Order: sequence, then C-alpha cells, then structure tokens
Amino acid sequence: MNTKINYNRRNFLQHSALGLTALGVLPKLALAKTSSLKSKPTAGFNADVEIEITSRDAYMPIKSGRKTKVQKYYAKVLKGPKNTVVELEDNYLGPTLNYKQGQKVRIYYKNRLSESSVIHWHGLHVPQHSDGHPMYAINGGETLVYEFEVLNRAGTSFYHSHSHEKTATQVYKGLAGIITVTDDEEQNLDLPRGEYDLPLVLQDRNLDSQNQLQYIHGMHGKMMGFLGETILVNGKPNAEFSVKSRAYRFRAVNGSNSRIYKLGWDDGTPMVAIGTDGNLLDTPQTRPYIMLAPGERVDLWLDFSGRSVGDELTLSSLDYQGAMPPNGGMGMMSSSGLKQGEKFTIARFKVTKKVNQSPALPKELAKIKRLTNRDVDNKNKAIPIAISMKPMRPQLNGYSYEMDRVEDFEQVKLGSIKKIKIFHDHGKMAKGKKGMMGGGMGGMMLSMAHPIHLHGQQFQVVSRKIEGMRQEEYETVKEGFIDTGWKDTVLVMPGEEITIIKPFQDFKGLFLYHCHNLEHEDLGMMRQFYIS
Ligand code: C2O
Ligand code: CU
Ligand code: CU
Repeated sequence: MNTKINYNRRNFLQHSALGLTALGVLPKLALAKTSSLKSKPTAGFNADVEIEITSRDAYMPIKSGRKTKVQKYYAKVLKGPKNTVVELEDNYLGPTLNYKQGQKVRIYYKNRLSESSVIHWHGLHVPQHSDGHPMYAINGGETLVYEFEVLNRAGTSFYHSHSHEKTATQVYKGLAGIITVTDDEEQNLDLPRGEYDLPLVLQDRNLDSQNQLQYIHGMHGKMMGFLGETILVNGKPNAEFSVKSRAYRFRAVNGSNSRIYKLGWDDGTPMVAIGTDGNLLDTPQTRPYIMLAPGERVDLWLDFSGRSVGDELTLSSLDYQGAMPPNGGMGMMSSSGLKQGEKFTIARFKVTKKVNQSPALPKELAKIKRLTNRDVDNKNKAIPIAISMKPMRPQLNGYSYEMDRVEDFEQVKLGSIKKIKIFHDHGKMAKGKKGMMGGGMGGMMLSMAHPIHLHGQQFQVVSRKIEGMRQEEYETVKEGFIDTGWKDTVLVMPGEEITIIKPFQDFKGLFLYHCHNLEHEDLGMMRQFYIS
C-alpha cells in the first residue's frame, strides 16, 4: 500500500501513458486526459480576471514584539476589478479574494517556498485541473495555472494549501485566506456591505517566547489534532472590534487545524446565521449557539442596533463535550492546555458610535431547492463514508489515501445526484470482514468528532441520527448545527450518522473527500471520488 506520495509517481500519473497500466481501478484514458499539469494559459479561455498568487516564507507580526516566521500568500491583480484582491494589512493570512458569479478567472500560482505546494479553493465548484488536487503540487520555482468560471452563488469560501501530507503544517504556518463570491440575488438584498461586511477567520496557534510558531510533535498529538492556546481572529490575538449600533455581516471561517468552536454571546443573546459554507441560506436561522468545525463557514448577522455607546459584548467559544474520545483517548493528551470544548473568549465588540440607520434582517435570502430521495438514483444504496480510527491511523471506508486509486463505490457518473451516508465504523468493518478494523472497544474509545469535507459541488444534509453512549454529550452541541443550506463540510459527532445528498455535475475527474481535521487528513484520512 502506497500512502506516501512519491513525486516521480506523480509525474508518472500526469505525463506518462506507460504508467497508466499500473493504475489499479482508475479508468486509464480518462485519467490521462484530466491529469496534465497546467503550466501555461489555455488559448481559448478568455479570462475576465487574472491574478498572480505567490507563496513564500515571510516574517509577519502576529503578537506585538518579534515578528513570526510564516509561510504567506501574496497576490496581485493582473486584469479585472482592483478589489478582486484585498490585503489584510500586516497579516500572515493571505489576501481576501473577491469574485462575482460568472467571472472567468485565471490564476498564476507561483510557489516560491522551499517545498512543494498547491492551492485548493475550498468551497468553489471548479474543474479537477483547477481544484488543487495534491497531484498538481508544484515545487518551489514552478508555476501552476488555474482556470475556472465562478459557478458558485453568493457566499464565503476559503483557500488553502493542499499539499499531500503537508496541508496541516502549511496551513498552520499561514497558507490560507478567504474568498467571497457575490451574485445578483445577493446584490438585490439589503445586506451589510463595505465596512459592515467583515471577515472573522478563527485559528488557534502556539507561539513561543520568541513569538515563533510551535507545532505538535509525535503521533499522539496528531491523532487528537493540533490545539493551540492563542486564539487568532483575522490573524491577530485579543481581537477587539469597534462597532456602530447597527447590523453587521461577519463571515466566520474556521481556519484552525482541529479546533471546533461553539460560537455564542456571553450574555446569552442568540446567534443569527444568514449563510453556511458556500452560500446564503433561504431564511435566517437563530440559534442559542453555532458549532463551527475546521473548514466550515457561517455568515453571521451581528446586530448591535439598540445598543448604547460604551456597551461591550463578548463572543466566545462556549463549553461543550463529546468531540474528544473519552479519557482523552486512553491517555492521549492534546498538546495544549486549552482543551477541545473548553470555554474561551474569541473577540470583544465595543459599541463606539450611535447611528439611527441599520438594515433589517431580511426574511428571505436565497432561493434553495431542497434535495430529497426523489432526486437521487441510489435511494436504497447510499455511498458510505465510514469513519474509523485504528490506533495511529484514522481512515475512511477502511482505507488510507492513495493518489492513484478509487474503489468501485467511489466511481460516480457525471450528472448524477447521490445519497451519501457518513457514519462511525469503529469495531465493525468497512471491507466486509468482521474484525478487520482493529475496532471493538478500542475503536469506541478512540471515537471523536470529525469534520468531513467533500470537494466539488456542495451538498445538503438531509438527516442526522445519534446512537449509543454519547447522547448526553451531544446535548451540549446539537442545537448548533445549521442544515438548511448548502454545505461542503459537515461535523460528524461520535455516534452520529449523517445522510447527505450531493450532486456530481459539470466536471469529470478526481475529487477528494477527507476529514478536515488537518492532522487527520495528513495521516491519510482522505479518499477521492472519480466522476466519469
Ligand atoms: Cu479545505 Cu480538501 O480541503
Ligand atoms: Cu475543499
Ligand atoms: Cu478526523
């Protein structure tokens, strides 16, 4: 079994017709067509927008004092609207990329790191050659050309490095940023814009006394995932926002490797969401708190109207249970003092100006067609995504990632709409044989929450079921899931079974699905669909 990427092998996949005979179940011709590295623009693709993105080592201020050594994305607009790229000043995060539905986008990605990398546009529905599949990772000094049309509707997405077995460390060091997409439907709504429409990128880091990033060492820490003690909002600790007494849109993105946030106001004011993952919701959703797992986004409607100058509100991640294995996974401890599920402050909001005008929360946002069993062609035979954790090896469907393999159930016909069941499979088997998973009680003890992300087109969550002994813990999170909109990442709590419906339209090729706990992803908790 070949779980380590071998770059000769990668080139083999991309360029060699001979190599294709060794591809196992991957349909040979199709792979040859879809997998060539794009290092030059396509002549017939007339881009409306062209940008250049560079990744390189840099020193940026995170805390006051010494600068932090990071890996950073820089970007500039070569063609098209100037606000396509907006820098977050003095920030280790990549600039915000702002697109409009229908735009044709060409991106020249120049890797200037001393290691290989590739960018994935998490949330955008783009062709395989522009999705940042790890087989397209380029070495330092090389350039990769992305070309796609923005098919997405209005919403918030997230771009980040997706280099095989280096995603966790590269994202940790700074290779991430946010993407916004707008469309006419959104433009016709009276939503907060400009200075009232702000990012809220949530990350946790550990910085040493010299302000340098510390990562986890060792396998135990990786199995639990990285948990840092310093909470960064938009790349900075101790976040404070001065706000006016009116409504704001905050685009919350969980850009952490493993930390799951339970977003809530300290004073008990409910949270209001107007969008999830890539899209506006059909109607705003009000919840006591909102769960946000790595890779997920939620567009928040934070309304300070009616507040007085001097009022201060605290947004926290509230206490919850159940995301980690009982007893910390038989003695496995996280690398940090700030545990998963422990309460902490995210940001303070100070009302500094009274204004009389504020947009009202719209009753209806975007039109969403709800997918049901009638839309799928596999009503009684859902595609499985079985989560299992062998000691030291989190897996999907009983396999670790292999770049050149897809199983039968991972092959999907272009244009089809599929039902997919995501569930925990500790102690059972994914390959049809009992006892093969090294599960049993041991498996149960390792059971933890996993944010499962599927590349390509977004899906809808149609049902959630919880079974087994973790019910009480589930009570502390269950009101925080927003399943009424489109999603590309879904948090699966221990004991939970989630059914989703996902269309596989527009593009053929290889599209990943994986755990967005980035340590798990890099440990091989990733597979791919082959759409043909
Ligand atoms: Cu945000 Cu495949 O990842
Ligand atoms: Cu993605
Ligand atoms: Cu996981």
